[in-house]
Amino acid sequence: MEKILYIIILILLESSNFYKNINYVNPSNYDFIVNKNNKLDRNYEPKDLEKIDLKYSCENKYLRHDARIKFEQMAEDASKEGLNLIAVSTYRSYDYQEKLYNNYVKDYGFYYADMASARPGHSEHQTGLAVDVSDSSLDYDNFEETKEFEWMKNNSYKYGFILRYPKAKFLTTGFKYEPWHYRYVGEDIATYIYKNNLTLEEYENNF
Ligand code: DAL
Ligand code: ZN
Repeated sequence: MEKILYIIILILLESSNFYKNINYVNPSNYDFIVNKNNKLDRNYEPKDLEKIDLKYSCENKYLRHDARIKFEQMAEDASKEGLNLIAVSTYRSYDYQEKLYNNYVKDYGFYYADMASARPGHSEHQTGLAVDVSDSSLDYDNFEETKEFEWMKNNSYKYGFILRYPKAKFLTTGFKYEPWHYRYVGEDIATYIYKNNLTLEEYENNF
């Protein structure tokens, strides 16, 4: 069964437009898109990266100014309900993403790597606006089972964060379901996306 699923995914990937017709992105406010068809320059690094309060991150993690402030507010509000939101991966440079992606290819093969990890220049983590969230276990792989995830699902948009790779949206986003990965787009866009159950790709195609 798994083998059949794998073959279907291979066919879908091969016949898709992913990683074909690539545009270079010029990051503006918070509504630009980085994905398999929209790439950041190797040298792009946001100018306003700031360190997240260590109460809400593991080690030193950086987000762009507004995303950092909103993430901390969100984590503080969640903590009032006894929940622990911890940023486990935030800004990643092009070079770091290149190593991560290559490790995926080495460990799991090319096709799985392309479902789970962005090629360098194509990761939202390079924007400084994406954050992988965990509860205090720091095991983001099990985030879906936590109360923290339930809270994020219902509340993250109020702080400008969207669940970026929802379940069953693989053909739109190009990535498998990632309950832990959130992207800051600002409150207005996040609210629209949340209320209309869209991906960022679907939102961009409508505007
Ligand atoms: N895991 C996400 C898709 C990334 O590598 O940016
Ligand atoms: Zn991520």
